[in-house]
Amino acid sequence: MSTTRTITFTLNGKKRDFQIAPGELLVKLLRRSGLTGTKEGCDEGTCGACTVNVDGRAVLSCIMPAFLAHGRNVVTIEGVGDFDRVHPIQQALVDAGAVQCGYCTPGLVMSAKAMFEENPAASDEDIRVHTDGNLCRCTGYEKIWTALRNVRDANKPAQA
Ligand code: FES
Ligand code: FES
Repeated sequence: MSTTRTITFTLNGKKRDFQIAPGELLVKLLRRSGLTGTKEGCDEGTCGACTVNVDGRAVLSCIMPAFLAHGRNVVTIEGVGDFDRVHPIQQALVDAGAVQCGYCTPGLVMSAKAMFEENPAASDEDIRVHTDGNLCRCTGYEKIWTALRNVRDANKPAQA
């Protein structure tokens, strides 16, 4: 008897089938599928490195069983941008000097993307609170917050 199971979900805009093992976590499925932009840090839901978007919400893929992705819409950093089509959040992080080793960056981008989709006018406090689950051991956070404030301000409608 096979112990694997087939699930289907939309990954970065394409509906795909995946064979999963019992208890397999979403981060493992993504990475073994070649999407290694999603990072593994703590593997216990505390660092944010593995953040992806599921149905538009920021989710920690290291604690989400893969089977829960069935029928849902999953976006990883590969679906957001790359060298040829840099997402505004990625560009803002670069411009603010908020990327050092870069290990936290994909998760941070996914977290910020979900925040701005829900609340394009996020306050400075909203930005700090929303990203406090994305640990960065390099930057000291100030440059990250600056970058995200710049994204928000660039999205503001022009004043009449
Ligand atoms: S690897 Fe998922 S929260 Fe740290
Ligand atoms: S840039 Fe190194 S952990 Fe954030």
